[in-house]
Amino acid sequence: MKTFLTFVFISLAFTPLQSQTPTELIVRVNEPIADIQPTMWGIFFEDINFAADGGIYAELVKNRSFEFDEPLMGWLQPNTDRHSMNEKSGMATVIKEGDSPNNHFVRIEVKNDAGYELINEGFCGIGIKSGAQYMLTMNARVVSGSITKIKVQLINTDSKSIGETSLTLKRGDWFTYESAIQAVNTEKTAQLLITFEGSGVVDLDMVSLFPKDTWKGRPKGLRSDLVQLLADLKPGFVRFPGGCIVEGRTLDQRYQWKKTVGDIINRDLLINRWNTEFKHRPAPDYFQSFGLGFYEYFLMSEDIGAEPLPILGCGMACQFNTGELVPLDALDPYLQDALDLIEFANGSADSKWGKVRASMGHPETFNLKYIGIGNEQWGSEYFDRLKIFIDTIKSKYPEITIVSSAGPFPDGEHFEYANNKLKEFHAEIVDEHYYRAPQWFLDNADRYDSYDRSSYKIFAGEYAAQSVATGSPDNKNNWECALAEAAFLTGLERNADVVHLTSYAPLFAHVDGWQWTPDLIWFDNLKSFGTPNYYVQKAFSNNKGTKLLQVLSGAEPVMGQNGLYASSVFDDNTGETIIKLVNAGKGEMPVKIQLSGAKRIGKTATMSLLTSDDPKTVNSIDEPRKISPQESQLQLKGKYIEVSLPSSSLTVVKVLAK
Ligand code: AHR
Repeated sequence: MKTFLTFVFISLAFTPLQSQTPTELIVRVNEPIADIQPTMWGIFFEDINFAADGGIYAELVKNRSFEFDEPLMGWLQPNTDRHSMNEKSGMATVIKEGDSPNNHFVRIEVKNDAGYELINEGFCGIGIKSGAQYMLTMNARVVSGSITKIKVQLINTDSKSIGETSLTLKRGDWFTYESAIQAVNTEKTAQLLITFEGSGVVDLDMVSLFPKDTWKGRPKGLRSDLVQLLADLKPGFVRFPGGCIVEGRTLDQRYQWKKTVGDIINRDLLINRWNTEFKHRPAPDYFQSFGLGFYEYFLMSEDIGAEPLPILGCGMACQFNTGELVPLDALDPYLQDALDLIEFANGSADSKWGKVRASMGHPETFNLKYIGIGNEQWGSEYFDRLKIFIDTIKSKYPEITIVSSAGPFPDGEHFEYANNKLKEFHAEIVDEHYYRAPQWFLDNADRYDSYDRSSYKIFAGEYAAQSVATGSPDNKNNWECALAEAAFLTGLERNADVVHLTSYAPLFAHVDGWQWTPDLIWFDNLKSFGTPNYYVQKAFSNNKGTKLLQVLSGAEPVMGQNGLYASSVFDDNTGETIIKLVNAGKGEMPVKIQLSGAKRIGKTATMSLLTSDDPKTVNSIDEPRKISPQESQLQLKGKYIEVSLPSSSLTVVKVLAK
């Protein structure tokens, strides 16, 4: 009886599928219709969610230079009562000297050998890995007394040392001390404990700790697991430094690239605009040290084979905040910043700004091709300024392509106004943003099918499906959102003649320190993972091809009929035809794909599948690859690929076919 029931169940489950007629698709392999731009799939970097300090910039000490508004933020003195120092072990006081950018340091008065301790709490703690080496540096000056040694320990949550070193102090002026710490245990939320031998007064500044293992082993460089996740995307460009951070909440707090290059000690700390932006996720300890500055952005772009795409402010503070404006006749310093940036990237090592680049270790140019003017600006205020920027930049550097903004929304009054203006200006590339519900992405896969081919090219510069609402702290990087994005991306790819650049936003988020969700990559102090959205992005960017092909159902492009979305490219480098298929419908869908016009076709195809039964599925630190690609092989039937697409899935099929 049991056997009989099982048999009935299985046959019922499979009957409808076996009888389902496959949807027939045609890929016109011999009729490429456009080039795919090498920049098609890129990344958007903004220092939000502790993406830079506390994230990809591998510095482990928070407020290393005592420049935060609250100067001892990040530092603890567990044995000290500020009001009765005489009976206690010592005291730290932040002192300001001179007018240079990094003009604060901490003065430590140590009383006797009473065990004065200064602790740095790191960014949501300090991530330490057993067996790894950590490079400690600090500037110190003995002012008076008999302090001869500084002991530095990494301590775990039980206050036990898990690695330590000590520095022998010289008398006299400031000296820089360096030492390595070998960690003997792993701890996600360690702290840095500093103690002193002897008593007296000593000044400290630039107290810094980096893992030795950084991206490409660069001293004081970037966190290798995070850059690796970016490199794995094989991005065509890196957009930096944002995002709203470009504009600042006030003009005074705008991003100024010149203050982010040169010797790190001279980089001017700035409040991070996401510091208190959201009441539901306040981050009062969020500042920008600019250890990751413009030079490092250019270098990272070069390292991962991506075009650098800097976005500059245009004399407007964020219009969601103060919207402060620089008068049109006072824009010169802003315009000069743009011209100087091009010289910094592309000028000879003898030019004023090329010399700065060369002095930082890169005499060769960075071959900058694009520059973005303004982030999410809108209204006549923006276009009045944009026009001046375009004229100024083009008159000196006609070869630089200018990226203009269409504002924060993909439709509506501001968008329409922008559209008309951008056409009037003969804009080259326009940055559109879409933070919308998953359904919007499904419904808008045909967005660019009707775009004016004689006008500007599109930079889909910030997109992410919002599972709850834009800006909601409850948004999740779940499969429902990732799948909707995949459907939308087939539409972007199908329109690759007009869409030249695309990037998901934001890129990074610290699991304990975020302000904005969803985000492409999440991390804690030790580990990181790509979201389902990351694997969707990767499926497209790792299979970008060089030529656009048509995928047709009958005579129509495949853009949502019965929940099916598709796009296809040919790759001149590998001779492969690549087909991306999204089944956003509820049931499994068999498809039969004819490779029309192909003279040589391989016998097998490789398939990469992303899917989940549950639209709410997410990846996490503990289950980082819950949704990740499953690879398999498929036998072709002559010119046909027959494949059954699981419900809620993205399938990438690759076959040698010319
Ligand atoms: O990606 C987060 C923010 O969203 C960006 O800073 C801004 O450009 C957009 O509004």
